[in-house]
Amino acid sequence: MALKGKVTVVGSGFYGSTTALRLAEYNIFETVVLTDIVEGKPEGLALDINQSRPIEGFETKVIGATTTAEGGGYEATANSDVVVITAGLPRKPGMSRTDLIGVNAGIVRGVAENIAKHSPKAVIIVVSNPLDEMTALAQLATGFPKHQVMGQAGMLDTARFTNFVAQKVGVPVGSVKTLTLGSHGETMVPVPSRCTVDGKPLSEILSEADIAELVDRTRNGGAEVVALLKTGSAYYAPSAAAARMAKAVIEDSGAIMPVCAWVEGQYGIEGVYLGVEAEIGKNGIRKVVESALTPSEVDALKVAAEAVRAKQADVKDL
Ligand code: LAC
Repeated sequence: MALKGKVTVVGSGFYGSTTALRLAEYNIFETVVLTDIVEGKPEGLALDINQSRPIEGFETKVIGATTTAEGGGYEATANSDVVVITAGLPRKPGMSRTDLIGVNAGIVRGVAENIAKHSPKAVIIVVSNPLDEMTALAQLATGFPKHQVMGQAGMLDTARFTNFVAQKVGVPVGSVKTLTLGSHGETMVPVPSRCTVDGKPLSEILSEADIAELVDRTRNGGAEVVALLKTGSAYYAPSAAAARMAKAVIEDSGAIMPVCAWVEGQYGIEGVYLGVEAEIGKNGIRKVVESALTPSEVDALKVAAEAVRAKQADVKDL
């Protein structure tokens, strides 16, 4: 199959470098560009990944580029089809994602402006935290249509929920379907009514108390990893989620994924970036897909929408 397209990953920390590696190993892109402001780091990682190509058998070329806050080095990212923004600081133990808003807003705004100059058609996938706010900020800073900017969170939170259910029930992860919507934070909305094990509703398999415990663990899924690592946050599951979204874009696949997308009227919620299911294609979000939720799940989604709406309104001044 012919390789096509260019994807840029901004930020060469663990999240960014792991995402670049996954994207390269898919062997579908012509080029993966990895950037960072730490001089030499992206070039070094790119060289290392390229040297793994004969062993792993992929032809995608990885290019590393050191960039500056003033926009130096961004020529290497020009005309990207997809850009994954991982730039920013991760949490430390005890921090909430929202604690990062001040410092990461400045970083994400600068990156988004530089990306927009060089890749006006790129679909942007934001993963920097606090996720829902940074996604809104990236849309503002790029000035891109809202469907062209989305955030990664629901894929990750759903994967965590699925993993916890599979472990609890003792079945393969492939037997389990779950769904997580809402914010990537305290108002995350794991959706038990949409969870099944081998097609059977979760409520027929686990007690209410067990389900509540798994929902809670999912909501704290990121913090649990941060507390164990002590420095930095999760990156294997997060990078898998971001890379799959970029793949859906370049393949124009129409896959329906839980992502942070601009919501306009779905579930009675208007004008906010929020975790919902959406159909992904080459221009970003083709459409937000509404699914059947219980009234209490819809209420929880509305609470999440109002919580992130208030914070998203602040980002224009950051
Ligand atoms: C997490 C971070 C990446 O949830 O938001 O692990």
